[in-house]
Amino acid sequence: MLDAAMPSGLLADALAGLAASPKTLPCKWLYDAEGARLFEDITRLPEYYPTRTEMLILPQASAAIAAACGPGVAVVEFGSGDGSKVSVLLSALESPSAYVPVDIAAEWLDAAAARVAAEQPGLAVLPVVADFTQYFPLPAELPAGPRLGFFPGSTIGNFTPDEAVGFLRRAREVLGHGARMVLGADLVKAPAVLEAAYDDAQGVTAAFNLNLLARLNREAGADFELASFRHEARWNPVLERVEMHLVARRAQVVTLGGQRIGFAEGESIHTENSHKYRPDRLRQLAEAGGWRDLALWTDPAGLFSVWLLEAA
Ligand code: AVI
Repeated sequence: MLDAAMPSGLLADALAGLAASPKTLPCKWLYDAEGARLFEDITRLPEYYPTRTEMLILPQASAAIAAACGPGVAVVEFGSGDGSKVSVLLSALESPSAYVPVDIAAEWLDAAAARVAAEQPGLAVLPVVADFTQYFPLPAELPAGPRLGFFPGSTIGNFTPDEAVGFLRRAREVLGHGARMVLGADLVKAPAVLEAAYDDAQGVTAAFNLNLLARLNREAGADFELASFRHEARWNPVLERVEMHLVARRAQVVTLGGQRIGFAEGESIHTENSHKYRPDRLRQLAEAGGWRDLALWTDPAGLFSVWLLEAA
């Protein structure tokens, strides 16, 4: 029996992905409430360097970003989550005109709006519920003036390179003429560091990945036996990405949406890509998406990059 509250598309995406060869499930479905909670835990893990490294770089970069943007800029955050990263930018900017958090999850938008309203009293906060992988209009009440996009966390790495270019093109269209964008992107590094970041000792990333099967059981009436799958993080050196997989520990048949789906022992479901970018490659993508780079900051260990881009 299907849950009446099942988000549209979950079952259809799962049936299509599990009928494909190799099997796949779209990573956007990792983020139900439990997935979002587990992702928050991931960001605090010792092995998961991206969040804390980006939060080291941003305060150092923000004065230069503020100087490049000038006064009265409106900040548009793509996939704002709880809005915890934008404060450092908003505090550095000269009289920002508004903050526009954009997220598909209305409850996260409320959290982002409440947090920023408390931290930046008097700043206009204009949340937009939208899927930022598609074009969306900015709120009509947004004051005219320069716009600064904010896309932190290396979420760009979860797109394929073609999707990343598509996102950058649309973001340029949404933000308009003269826009700037602050973009966080994870860098290529030693495979051992990358694999540990995506397969931590406490098993939080494994729980995050396996929650996708639990979600299909909860919301789509599937009968995955979670103990029969294991999490695997694989560095793909050709495509320069960490892949998350769920690997069947034994041959089995799972029922989903009235269909029987067979798994061979060792067969995997590919659940996420996390592309890592060398600066030259990221610059190429930005240019293909209609942006030129104004500045690039990294940490001393060269783990992560923060970019300031300008609409070309
Ligand atoms: C949200 N995104 C940038 C994370 C990443 O690093 O690709 C998602 C994640 N998956 C496993 N750990 C973290």
